[in-house]
Amino acid sequence: MSHDTAPQGASGPLTSRMGSPLTGTIRVPGDKSISHRSLMFGALAVGRTTVKGLLESEDVLATADAMRAVGATIEKQTDGSYTVDGIGLGSLLEPEHVIDFGNAGTGVRLTMGIFGSHNIAATFVGDASLSKRPMGRVLNPLRDMGTNVIARDGDRLPASIRGPELALPLTYRVPMPSAQVKSAVLLAGLNAPGETTVIEPIPTRDHTERMLKGFGADISVTLNDAGERVIRLKGQPELKPQDIDVPGDPSSAGFPVVAALIVPGSDVTIGNVLLNEHRTGLITTLIEMGGDIEIVNRRETGGEEVGDLRVRASRLKGVTVPAERAPSMIDEYPVLAVAAAFATGDTFMPGLEELRVKESDRLAAVARGLEANGVPCRETEDTLTVTGGANAIGGGTVVTHLDHRIAMSFLVLGMAAHKPVTIDDGAVIATSFPDFTGLFEGLGAQVAANASEAA
Ligand code: S3P
Repeated sequence: MSHDTAPQGASGPLTSRMGSPLTGTIRVPGDKSISHRSLMFGALAVGRTTVKGLLESEDVLATADAMRAVGATIEKQTDGSYTVDGIGLGSLLEPEHVIDFGNAGTGVRLTMGIFGSHNIAATFVGDASLSKRPMGRVLNPLRDMGTNVIARDGDRLPASIRGPELALPLTYRVPMPSAQVKSAVLLAGLNAPGETTVIEPIPTRDHTERMLKGFGADISVTLNDAGERVIRLKGQPELKPQDIDVPGDPSSAGFPVVAALIVPGSDVTIGNVLLNEHRTGLITTLIEMGGDIEIVNRRETGGEEVGDLRVRASRLKGVTVPAERAPSMIDEYPVLAVAAAFATGDTFMPGLEELRVKESDRLAAVARGLEANGVPCRETEDTLTVTGGANAIGGGTVVTHLDHRIAMSFLVLGMAAHKPVTIDDGAVIATSFPDFTGLFEGLGAQVAANASEAA
């Protein structure tokens, strides 16, 4: 069994400040959603799956450990790729220890789905952020399938589950726009006899559906009369191993994209970015704001569209972001709010209720971070309005609340603000983008670990 460790992020405060224009060609790390699923589905297949371009971040490596705990062998090869020798659906071993998912919401929720329909017991823990997040959205459908659950009040972690001898297939209507919930139910349905049906009134990222099909599952997606996606999955398939090439993460690409738009004189190309239509809401919005973003070399890899993004510094204007676009850019609102701080006029972002239950209450964390740096904004229960173009922004310290995207977004703010911007904790960046600082330094940005030196 190999034990991989994520490159460590710099712990303690980090400060970014305006430097020269950002220039160069980069690649961002592999997509987090696809990386988690590659390891999970590889573990459920019989035989060897290979994964190139896996995101080696703390979140994804926690999923690797969870899959090892039920019997999969996951190893890093000398060429940097990973192999997953699956144990096979229905044959998972009972973990001998508590499963620690750290910060990873996708990891824990999808794994609860997988384990929850197997007749094994497992206990899940996480860090302070993950322990505050609601797990009932996944545990409730699992209860309906026959899984026993003991969880902390409000269905928070730590939580223990024991799957039934034979899980009941469900027809489940996903009550909130959540790819994690949809996926957890489908993954539980894999080990239930008969057909599991998930109705998705608001479409979300479809990596589970696409990848399960690739692994040989009998899964179909249709639209019902109300225009809702209906996903039907036949239980107990034999999943076949795959060779996966993970494209660059569009959520991670959002940081250099916004930085290149707001740092004057910048010209940056980001290669091999996933362009799945359920993930490109940020790019669409930034183009509407007047961002000079050219998508070149569009191509298909492993059933997903990818392309290169050439981004040049631009004058941005405020827009209203349609609420129905939220699922396709749900992780990108913090960095969009940073772009909005440099646009003329107001950017209005409705439909943000799900931001309240991310790694932090992201709506509040963004609003407090903007205020700390002199950017006028207004927060309601589910909307954010940012007024761009204020003078003399920056100079504040942002509380990241164990939220990697808050940390990275405000470092991007500091790259174009009049005064440096400090975040209280850089370690959390390793959750999804371990080489964030190195990659930005390569483009010419100034990000320093010692706040007092940089300020
Ligand atoms: C993810 C789904 C989204 C997203 C998360 C990754 C996934 O979460 O925010 O970063 O891979 O399925 P929700 O399902 O809570 O919207």
